[in-house]
Amino acid sequence: MSTKDVAVFVGSLRKESLNRKMANALAGLAAGGLKLEIVEIGQLPLYNQDDDVAGKVPPAWQALRDRVKAAHAVLFVTPEYNRSVPGVLKNAIDVASRPYGQSAFDGRPGAVISVSPGAIGGFGANHHLRQMMVFLNVPMLQQPEAYIGGAANLFDDKGNLSNPGTREFLEKFMEAFAAWIERNGKK
Ligand SMILES: Cc1cc2nc3c(=O)[nH]c(=O)nc-3n(C[C@H](O)[C@H](O)[C@H](O)COP(=O)(O)O)c2cc1C
Repeated sequence: MSTKDVAVFVGSLRKESLNRKMANALAGLAAGGLKLEIVEIGQLPLYNQDDDVAGKVPPAWQALRDRVKAAHAVLFVTPEYNRSVPGVLKNAIDVASRPYGQSAFDGRPGAVISVSPGAIGGFGANHHLRQMMVFLNVPMLQQPEAYIGGAANLFDDKGNLSNPGTREFLEKFMEAFAAWIERNGKK
C-alpha cells in the first residue's frame, strides 16, 4: 500500500479539545501508512449561497475545497452537540460540498470517530455525520465503529493517548481504514 493523504476534520474549536487531542494522537500513530493532516475549519465564513458565485467566493472556502479535492480520503473526528454534529463541522461540510455538482467530497472514502467525555461516545453525531456522507457519495468505513466515550480519562497532561486499550483499538481502526481507502479510493 502506498501512503495516502487523509484530510482530517475536527468538529471542535476548543483549545483543550479532546477531539483535537484524538486527531493528533491518530496522526502520531501513522498506522496503515496513512498521512493525516488536520484541515482548519474555524476561520471559514458561514456558508451563504449568495457568495458562492464567481468573483465572490471567500478564499477560505476555496482553500478548503482545494484541500479536500487533493486528498485521497477524509476522516472526521467529532464531538456530539445536542445529539448531532457541531455547527462548525456542519458548516465546513456544507462549504466543501458546493457548488452543486462540484462537491470536493465526491467519491473519496471516509471514516468517523466520535469522541465524548460521556458514556454514549457521541453515537448521535457519528450517525448524523454518516447520513450526510450518503448524500455526498463518501463511502464510509463500516467496521470497526468508533464511539469513544469516557474521553476525559484517555490522555495524559501533555495530550498523549495514555490508555493502551484505546491505542490498540485505534491502531486496528486505522489499519481497517487504510484497507478501506485502498479498496474504495480513486486509483
Ligand atoms: C452545545 C453543546 C452540546 C453538547 N451536547 C452533547 C451531547 O449531545 N452529547 C455528548 O456526549 N456531549 C455533549 N456535549 C459535551 C461535549 O461532549 C464536551 O463538551 C466535549 O468535551 C466536546 O468535545 P471537545 O473536548 O473536543 O471540545 C455538548 C457540549 C456543548 C458545548
